[in-house]
Amino acid sequence: MTKKKLYVETYGCQMNVVDSEVVVAILQQQDYEVTDRMDKADLILVNTCSIRENAEQKVNQRIREFGRQKKKNVNLVVGVIGCMAELLKDRLLEEERSVDLVIGPDAYRQLPELLQEVDNGQKGINTILSLEETYADVSPVRLDKNHVSSFVSIMRGCNNFCAYCVVPFTRGRERSRDPETIEREVRELYEKGYREVTLLGQNVNSYHWEEAAPGAVKHSGNQSFGNEKDNKKNPAVLHFEDLLERIASIAPDLRIRFATSHPKDLSDRLLQTMAKHPNLCRSIHLPVQSGSTAVLKRMKRGYTRKMYEERVRSIRKYLPEATISTDIITGFCGETEEEHRETLDLMKWAGFDFAYMFKYSERPGTYAAKKYVDDVPDTVKRRRLNEIIQLQGEMSLESKKQDAGKEFEVLAEGPSKKSPDDLVGRTSQNKVVVFGANGLKPGHYVHVRVTGCTSATLFGEVIG
Ligand code: 5AD
Ligand code: SF4
Repeated sequence: MTKKKLYVETYGCQMNVVDSEVVVAILQQQDYEVTDRMDKADLILVNTCSIRENAEQKVNQRIREFGRQKKKNVNLVVGVIGCMAELLKDRLLEEERSVDLVIGPDAYRQLPELLQEVDNGQKGINTILSLEETYADVSPVRLDKNHVSSFVSIMRGCNNFCAYCVVPFTRGRERSRDPETIEREVRELYEKGYREVTLLGQNVNSYHWEEAAPGAVKHSGNQSFGNEKDNKKNPAVLHFEDLLERIASIAPDLRIRFATSHPKDLSDRLLQTMAKHPNLCRSIHLPVQSGSTAVLKRMKRGYTRKMYEERVRSIRKYLPEATISTDIITGFCGETEEEHRETLDLMKWAGFDFAYMFKYSERPGTYAAKKYVDDVPDTVKRRRLNEIIQLQGEMSLESKKQDAGKEFEVLAEGPSKKSPDDLVGRTSQNKVVVFGANGLKPGHYVHVRVTGCTSATLFGEVIG
């Protein structure tokens, strides 16, 4: 029997990348195989993101394109999955006639039944969020191209309710995944030849797992996180640091990264754990969002500028060679010129190696949408965004220039886009390095001396 063809397009964060891989695993059981040709597909799924308005606009255009495809192939089934499905179910069903399936991030196991409903001439809809679903037992079908680095989801959802953020509404409450299944998945990746794994969660520092007594219910929530005493009372409680220790011990030549850390939860114990294991990569993504304590308070981030600075000092103390990257939102409700300057000032102080920078975009249902006025004019948001992008560019260049002449261990990931004779890899600090291939292959570790740079890339020569 010929298999049905599935075409998947993924937008948004790395979490969505893994979710698409979970969806492919579920559909392979239903005799689907992946195609990269939209025009050959029997089923098109678009895994969507709602974090900012422009992410949604991009997907809306694609949905129209899939609608045109449907005119050419009347049997084609089109599904919208992920965060937009969760948030915009009613609009999608009313306005987008070509959409047959609308499935939220916790309902992918229902895909076979929902496809059956479409076969029966109905729409397949499930946007119910779960308190438990982690797809722990599903082995994602890897869709990456290089087979060197991969993502592993360790928790889902978020309980933080930052004022601007839609994630707690689209992905539901926080829950952690069974560590046994995480370890098994990482081991399997290593055995397949992968040499780098990024552990993913909206707030990995609050990973929390309690082994249940026989017959009792397991707790994957975060009821007692941060309470060190709790750990002593109950040795079966596993925190993020403990999980990292376990994963780092799988193989010394398997690099481990993780994202995303929340400044209010990044503990010294975590930094000490990292310092003990050279394969825990020396780069920390620590979103600051703003350099102004007043803005952070309006954002409900749970820390002050001083507390953030204190976390940066701790990173420098325990991991002096680590780079720090961040996320910044500019033009949040009520942001004054002075508050904007505080962000620029903090950026200079922290010396971020890299930053994702965004204009504030009001999201439906969030605290900010309900309680604040989105009062910074778009022209001002744009100008401030340009200022932070410009400053970050200068700092990224400075950070790369400091590496001139230094030697790094680089994990080769794949061919360079610009030259077939070069490979691209990354240092433990997450800096991209281009170097001569010299018969080396993706997945190899190589020692490289830095000979030049741009703000985004190091250039180097292989040594030894
Ligand atoms: N507007 C702009 N940026 C946002 N982010 C989250 N919500 C919004 C929003 N409403 C950014 C934050 C977060 C990153 C993933 O996206 O910086 O860390
Ligand atoms: Fe959104 Fe804040 Fe949760 Fe990050 S920590 S996903 S910004 S609510």
